[in-house]
Amino acid sequence: MLGINIPIVAAPMAGASGGLLAAQVTAGGGFGFLAAGYRSADSLTSELSLARGLLHLNPSDPLPIGVGYLAWQLEKPTANPEALLSAALDNHVQAIWLAFGNDIKEWIKFIRNYDAQHKRPRPTTIFVPVSSVEEALVASDEWKVDVLVAQGNESGGHGYGSAPPLFTLVSSILAALPTGGPPVLAAGGLMTGSQVASFLVLGAAGAVLGTRFLMTPENWPTGVDGRGLYNNTVKDMDNGVDVETVKMKFEAGVRDGDPGRMLVWSGMGVGLVSEIKSAEEVIHELGDAILQRLKVASELAR
Ligand SMILES: Cc1cc2nc3c(=O)[nH]c(=O)nc-3n(C[C@H](O)[C@H](O)[C@H](O)COP(=O)(O)O)c2cc1C
Repeated sequence: MLGINIPIVAAPMAGASGGLLAAQVTAGGGFGFLAAGYRSADSLTSELSLARGLLHLNPSDPLPIGVGYLAWQLEKPTANPEALLSAALDNHVQAIWLAFGNDIKEWIKFIRNYDAQHKRPRPTTIFVPVSSVEEALVASDEWKVDVLVAQGNESGGHGYGSAPPLFTLVSSILAALPTGGPPVLAAGGLMTGSQVASFLVLGAAGAVLGTRFLMTPENWPTGVDGRGLYNNTVKDMDNGVDVETVKMKFEAGVRDGDPGRMLVWSGMGVGLVSEIKSAEEVIHELGDAILQRLKVASELAR
């Protein structure tokens, strides 16, 4: 579906994934998303041009990266959703990711209409993250999305506190989806090729990694929780330090860029990262490890 060799997708991470990261992941053999996050249409266009240049593509070529939207940003009364979505579509991106919103169905309709009007031979691949079987069935059966991203509780950044652990979520979604349903990608806490291989064996089509590629802060609507590093801000809250003092120290931490105080989004697997490497190297390393583990798994079946 995506034309990639290594079944790894880099999550769109607001404030963290730009054109550079997305292009590097795709160049490495995975599939990179850039985060629309809180960007304007102009900023999105310039990140897309950056990615296009890095991938040595002409302006008329399809762009083999995706753009991930925070749907509630499109739904704000002051937003211009058509301009934001068109920035990606006019740049002929291969995929669009729509997360956390009330009108996702509308945005999907907009994208499908755009593809039809522009007679795109290959329609835009639509990804939607889900954190329950119910959401997965709506996205699959009603919205007809192309890819489901099962976002487990281990996921870094925003997500539903009510999400089950990834293993349970992926297993339940796969059991509930009808035959011929959309492929399911596993997201949340995944750092290594062995972990990804284990989800392939379970029946997932691939994995979405966020924290492995980067980390960053933001701020949010009801129902959506967040997972970040356990630092002195959280420790003070746990120890009952009064909120005003915690806030004051937090603000000072943000001013000083102190990760011991500021918010650093991160998934549950962060402890498994021991070195900083380029996104391309990460993709290659993951690809090799996935193959190696799958070979071991097939040996077991002999
Ligand atoms: C720094 C950061 C920012 C994120 N921003 C977004 C976002 O803008 N949109 C979105 O759908 N998910 C966002 N996520 C969640 C990812 O889509 C993905 O589910 C998560 O990173 C997977 O877990 P992992 O970080 O443990 O790999 C973000 C995650 C992180 C770590």
